[in-house]
Amino acid sequence: MSATTSVVASGRELFLDAIACQPTARRPLWVMRQAGRYLPEYRALRERHTFEELSGNAELAAQVTLQPLARFPLDAAIIFADLMSPVAALGLEVKFAPGPVLSRPVRTAADIAALRTPSRDEIAPSVMSALRMVKKELRGQRALLGFAGAPWSIAAYLVQGRGSPGFPALRALAAGDPALVNLLLTKLTDLIIDYVHAQFEAGADAVQLFDTWAGLLSRDSWTRLVRPHIARFLEETRGAGRPRILFLQDASHLVPAYAELPSEALAVDWREDLAALRRAVGPDKGLQGNLDPAILVAGPGPTRDAARALLAAVPARGHIVNLGHGITPEAPIESVQALVDAVHAEHTS
Ligand code: CP3
Repeated sequence: MSATTSVVASGRELFLDAIACQPTARRPLWVMRQAGRYLPEYRALRERHTFEELSGNAELAAQVTLQPLARFPLDAAIIFADLMSPVAALGLEVKFAPGPVLSRPVRTAADIAALRTPSRDEIAPSVMSALRMVKKELRGQRALLGFAGAPWSIAAYLVQGRGSPGFPALRALAAGDPALVNLLLTKLTDLIIDYVHAQFEAGADAVQLFDTWAGLLSRDSWTRLVRPHIARFLEETRGAGRPRILFLQDASHLVPAYAELPSEALAVDWREDLAALRRAVGPDKGLQGNLDPAILVAGPGPTRDAARALLAAVPARGHIVNLGHGITPEAPIESVQALVDAVHAEHTS
């Protein structure tokens, strides 16, 4: 390598440049749920601690956040927490079995009125401590990502009480009493605006807003009920000057509407044609994704082939490579390595 090409951009620079749609020497890569049960070192910790202990204790959460980075040269760390981490500040009790379970669902005007209005420093303080610890360890070399659930996707668990196919109680309440759901979404939007501001203050370089259950609503209902809240979140977090990635899942009918919202990046699942999405959104929005997590379960060969096909199809500028949803516990380590190798083998400039 010549002297002129020996300055290697850090993963953090690759990530931030790609989100800003600037040219990069290669595409950045991270993996949704990259700290989790497919890692033997995570499973070993889980034998000694519950998920609540791991995510609720800053030292343990920082340690788990860093596990995948010790094994793979990923370009970003995402803080180890859960969609439900900030809701304890509302006075709600959440357990995990393995997904979130509310001790009492939130379904009436009285339930919503009883929610606390926390100050910023009362919202998941251990997540902020974990962010500060990880920030220090990363020494500016990898991007540090915070995240929050989108208001609708948090409301899904609060109203339904637990994960459930189609979330029927949530959809019935949205149809029967949209004003009540709107009030709940307003409170949750206030919460996540403060939560995300606190994460930026604690050192997050960017945040991802997970709207995992966006697709439950028709486009028309979504436009009336959900869109104003995401628009307000984006408006009120813009001043920090840090990128916001919107993620939606199983919601093809809503992708054009999310693409119109003023986030710096959009993350979509594997059902979407990312190359077509690039043509539709133009050159100025970061796009993230979108391999099917099941391909990694199929093994390193299929993963390498799918990764190469993705890189060939999607223009490099503005592309952050990721899966289309979280990596599953069944994925072999070798598949993650094959994904890393395929991304690192591509030189784009
Ligand atoms: O990406 C990362 O590495 C950060 C960690 C992270 C977790 N949850 C850890 C976790 C993130 C970003 C989340 C967000 C989250 N949590 C979402 C949105 C993202 C998505 O997957 O769409 C949702 C819907 C949840 C709710 C949730 N938490 C479910 C449905 C479950 C159980 C199913 C599952 O995937 O495990 C959880 C528990 C949970 N959150 C685990 C982890 C690693 C597993 C806990 C364990 O170790 O047993």
